[in-house]
Amino acid sequence: MPSPKLTITDQRTDKAYELTIENSSVRALDLRPIKENPEEFGMLSYDPGYTNTASCTSRITFIDGDKGILRYRGYPIEQLAEQCTYTEVAYLLLYGELPTAAELKVWNKEIKDHTMVHENIKKFIDGFHYDAHPMGMLVSTVAALSTYYPDAKNIGSRTNRRLQQLRLISKMPTLAAYAYRHSQGLPYIYPDIELSYTENFMNMLWRRAEPKYEPSPVLAKALDVLFILHADHEQNCSTSTMRTIGSSNADPYVSLAGACGALYGPLHGGANEAVLTMLDEIGSMERIPSFIKEVKEGERRLMGFGHRVYKNYDPRAKIIKKIADDVFEITGRNPKIELAKELERIALEDDYFVKRRLYPNVDFYSGIIYEAMGFKPEMFTVLFAIGRTVGWLAHWEELMEDPERRIARPRQLYLGPNEREFVPIEERLGRLQSQRV
Ligand code: CMC
Repeated sequence: MPSPKLTITDQRTDKAYELTIENSSVRALDLRPIKENPEEFGMLSYDPGYTNTASCTSRITFIDGDKGILRYRGYPIEQLAEQCTYTEVAYLLLYGELPTAAELKVWNKEIKDHTMVHENIKKFIDGFHYDAHPMGMLVSTVAALSTYYPDAKNIGSRTNRRLQQLRLISKMPTLAAYAYRHSQGLPYIYPDIELSYTENFMNMLWRRAEPKYEPSPVLAKALDVLFILHADHEQNCSTSTMRTIGSSNADPYVSLAGACGALYGPLHGGANEAVLTMLDEIGSMERIPSFIKEVKEGERRLMGFGHRVYKNYDPRAKIIKKIADDVFEITGRNPKIELAKELERIALEDDYFVKRRLYPNVDFYSGIIYEAMGFKPEMFTVLFAIGRTVGWLAHWEELMEDPERRIARPRQLYLGPNEREFVPIEERLGRLQSQRV
């Protein structure tokens, strides 16, 4: 059956063009022949922030933002969060299928085999100021790993890529824990391979003088679920950054460092830290109405609310809200949860948020749990980065195998001055003054 077509009529020329519709989309390049004069460049689509542009095809994560659905490789996030471990989900995201028991055993062992980092990394981290933000340290040390693994430049080899992916998944918690220990002035703790991925991370963060760290199973499970919930979210800002840098054939370490940098921003992964700062600032229930008023007047944003894709409750936020009770049973209740719930209640009844379809996102409640577990707000985005590492890598792998891969290079609509004569420096002042008059 022939493909369906979209017919466009250019009113400037009365010419009609037929564009092929495939997967409910048209190719932007098919717009190029649309021009008024033959010497023109041709029609572009203009889409700041890529709100309606598909930059790739993908088979990893599905989101239906209107219905609040999130699936990894077809599996609902709720089922994965309840029944899987993070490393199992990492395998699923990277390889497309859930592992068998035997495959998972090998995979977990492979991950453990790569948890150590070169001793010089400690010296590298030691070079940071005592109050350096852990995300800044993480971005830099991930990029620095590129210098330890020059073989990673061989991106054409699938076997080689697999090795680098393993290294990154394994070493991210180690780098994150080292950054944290540095900020606390504490000695670095080596990985303990008898522990699970998440338990070992807790060991590297919190072990003191005890010979063997014994993590709380409830907290370890909660953190593992949080890693699962953050593992992938299709073409978000940081994943698109990973793909953009990767498209230049850069190695995965520098590409992932770039993705971490994108995540650091308060509109993306940095929102979890910003939510806590916001709750601290609000301070009490009585302050909520005046805070909401400031938000509605456009003076600030309600952090942890709203999403480019979800126009419904973020399914990850629902799961996180449930985990909070398990965590609080061990740690005691974080009083900020009441403040957050009240903020949510008021916002969800308010016309401003209802009209714009703004709901709590993944970052609204996660920080409150992290804080109850003992994490400082500066670490929240680092935790997001650990979970998201496999998502970034799965997309990078997909890009490497994509027959349509080309270097990412968007177009622009140039609105600046036309060609003009150079002005010698001695004549510029007079020109500026005459412009100001
Ligand atoms: N508080 C108040 N108003 C908001 C908010 C908010 N959190 N989010 C969006 N709006 C308003 C915005 O002012 C605009 O109103 P108007 O139409 O009157 O100009 C409208 O809603 C649409 O907003 P937008 O900025 O065009 O939406 P976007 O899709 O470009 O931005 C967002 C999405 C997540 C950046 C934004 O909702 C936001 O800044 N939220 C707060 C930061 C946050 O929680 N980020 C974490 C996102 S989830 C984790 C992740 O995956 O990164």
